[in-house]
Amino acid sequence: MIYLDHAATSWPKPPEVLAAMQNFLERAGGNPGRSGHRLSIEAGRIVYDTREALAEFFGINDPMRVLFALNATHGLNIALHGLLRPGDRVVTGGMEHNAVMRPLRELEKHGVQVEVVAAQPDGTLSPDAFTTALQGGAHLVVVNHASNVAGAIAPIAEIAALAHAAGAWMLVDAAQTAGVLPINMGAMSIDLLAFTGHKGLQGPPGTGGLVLADSFDAAQLPPLLQGGTGSRSEFEIQPEDLPDRYETGTPNGVGIAGLGAGLAWVCERGLDELRAHELDLAAQLRSGLSGIPGLHLYGPQDPKRSTAVISFTLPGKRVSEIGYRLDEEADILCRVGLHCAPAAHRSIGSFPEGTVRLAPGPLTTTPDIEKTIQAVKRIAAT
Ligand SMILES: Cc1ncc(COP(=O)(O)O)c(C=O)c1O
Repeated sequence: MIYLDHAATSWPKPPEVLAAMQNFLERAGGNPGRSGHRLSIEAGRIVYDTREALAEFFGINDPMRVLFALNATHGLNIALHGLLRPGDRVVTGGMEHNAVMRPLRELEKHGVQVEVVAAQPDGTLSPDAFTTALQGGAHLVVVNHASNVAGAIAPIAEIAALAHAAGAWMLVDAAQTAGVLPINMGAMSIDLLAFTGHKGLQGPPGTGGLVLADSFDAAQLPPLLQGGTGSRSEFEIQPEDLPDRYETGTPNGVGIAGLGAGLAWVCERGLDELRAHELDLAAQLRSGLSGIPGLHLYGPQDPKRSTAVISFTLPGKRVSEIGYRLDEEADILCRVGLHCAPAAHRSIGSFPEGTVRLAPGPLTTTPDIEKTIQAVKRIAAT
C-alpha cells in the first residue's frame, strides 16, 4: 500500500509514538494535575514534558503558553471566538480551511466584519494585497502557513509585520506545517499559533492546540470553555493561570504522550532532512505528472514555495473516479474533492469538483512516487 494522504493525517505513526501511548496507559494512567498520587504525578510530568518540548519547538520561552486542545480546529476556535467581538474587523486569506472560514462566517452573523484577501491562481498570497486590505484597520489577521489544497506557503513574517503595523494580532493556522517547516513565533512575529498533533508532528488524533506568544497578553483572550482544571478548586470561577484558563476538563494524556514522542521523532530526524526528502518527492511527482497529456497541476511551480501537497485534475475524469481507481487498481491512498477548503478551490479555479490530492510523507520512497506517476498515466489513458 502506498499512503499519500499525509495532509489529512500522517500514517503510519512512528513505533515510538505507540510505545509512549501504551506506556502512559500502563504506567502513568492517573489524571494529570488532579490527584497527588504517583500515577497522577507521572501523567502530569509527561504532559509537562510535551508542553516544554513544543514551546522550544515553536520558539517561545514559557511552556505554560502551550495550550492543549483537541486539534487545530479547536485551537483556532479558542482564538477566533475569544478575540473577535461585534464590530471588529478580521482579515484572512483566500486559501483558508473551513477550520477558519466556518468560525469566521459564524462570527460574521454576530457583527464581525470579515475581509478575504484574494489568493493568486497558484494559491500564493501577496503581502501587497494585505497592505491594501489592512488600510481599513483590523483587530486580527488569520492565515494558514501552508494550504492543504495547493501546498502554497504564505509569507507569514511579512504579513505579520503588516498586521502589527495596522494594530492587529497575527493568528497562524499551522495545521499543515507544524513538524514540516520551521516555525519560530518570535522571529516570525506570530501572536497566536494553532497546531495539530496528528499530521507533521506524527502524533495521534485528538491532539493539538493553541500557542500564545510570550508577548501576547492572555487577558485579551477569554476562554471558550469553563470547568474543572484541578487548580484553585475553592473558586467557582475559571482560574486566570496559564494554561488552566483554557485547559478545562481531563486532558488527553495518552494522546499528549504520543505527541511528545512524535515531536521527539521529528526533532531527531531534523526538519531540514525531512523537508529535503519531501522536496525531492514533490519535485519528482510534479515533473512526472506534468508529462501526462491534459493533466492540470495546481500550486506553485517552484517546489520551495510549497509543501509536498500536490493537487491535480484530469479533464474528462471525475476526481472521485481517479481516487477510486488509484485505490482499487494500484493500492494508492489519497484524498479527492474539496478537502474542507471550498474557499481555496475557488481561488485556484477547481471549485466545485475539487482536486486529487497527493501528499507524501517521511516514509514515502522514490519508487512509491514512480508507481504513482505510472498509475495516474494508466488512468489518464483509459
Ligand atoms: C490548513 C488546515 N487547517 C486546519 C485543519 C484542521 O485540522 P484538525 O482537523 O486537526 O483540526 C486542517 C486539517 O486538514 C488543515 O489542513
